[in-house]
Amino acid sequence: MDELQKKIIYLIQCQRSIDDICKELQLSKEELFSLLRKISDSGISLNVLNGGILTFKSVETIKKPYNIKMGKGHIRLGLIGDTHLASKYDDLDLLNRIYDKAEKRKIDAIFHSGDLVDGIVSVPNYFENLKEETYTGQMKYVIDKYPKYSGKTFAISGNHDDYWTHLTGKEIIKDISKERKDIVYLGPSKRIIYIDGLKINVLHGRFKQEGKVKSVKTLIDIIPEEIRPHFIHLGHYHTSLADTYEGVQFFRTSSLVRESPYNMNRMHINEQSIYWIDVYFDDDGKVDKITHEKDTFSKRR
Ligand SMILES: [Fe+2]
Repeated sequence: MDELQKKIIYLIQCQRSIDDICKELQLSKEELFSLLRKISDSGISLNVLNGGILTFKSVETIKKPYNIKMGKGHIRLGLIGDTHLASKYDDLDLLNRIYDKAEKRKIDAIFHSGDLVDGIVSVPNYFENLKEETYTGQMKYVIDKYPKYSGKTFAISGNHDDYWTHLTGKEIIKDISKERKDIVYLGPSKRIIYIDGLKINVLHGRFKQEGKVKSVKTLIDIIPEEIRPHFIHLGHYHTSLADTYEGVQFFRTSSLVRESPYNMNRMHINEQSIYWIDVYFDDDGKVDKITHEKDTFSKRR
């Protein structure tokens, strides 16, 4: 797929109109539709044409990037995910230890890749897995117990948080963030974040396959060169992975729950790890170097 096709996909994801796309890329409508046929032939199928806006069946829309200003030559980040709070298997002690470490390490911001709460999964007797069974119960649990530190936690929702959206129409992390100003809600399932010259994609992964290396590569392949992130932070898969593809680093964070029947049934290695990331900028504010360190907390390594 060439750069022009990638740019078309990106602009459709941003919900730009056909006229807008033609104008920005200096294409006629005939040229655009001919390129759309090529995109469709590569396996990315278009869904509908609705009032001049195109959508894809298999590619989600993109929200406007979230901008954070730090203005430093060196920033320190923490990547965590899948805390499943209010589950009987959550691990608040561990989460507190992680945030204590974040304070000691002078971490500027922590990113959470979703499944902040356990939600309520539509399987029989799921209540047996929960400390709190209601929307308000899980919301208050996080408001009261989520660790505090001097920086902020930026979170997207995962499928477990989204169970509440399906049931109540409300976004639980959004409601939590109203009471906890140190927790910033970035929206459902994925978000692009810019920290000065650094571009990050935080993504939960709707399906198990999205966490796999092959799927991450497919995801990176369709991002136009000029907007490619420096790194992608993924959740959902409950096991960690750090890799690089086409100059993009990706970090998949493990779950931070204790040994649970869910993890044991799937033979997941419950390593309870996180990534600490150091980003160095050059004098022009461009990213010069990114290093990472995996911190594993489980006794069973
Ligand atoms: Fe999860």
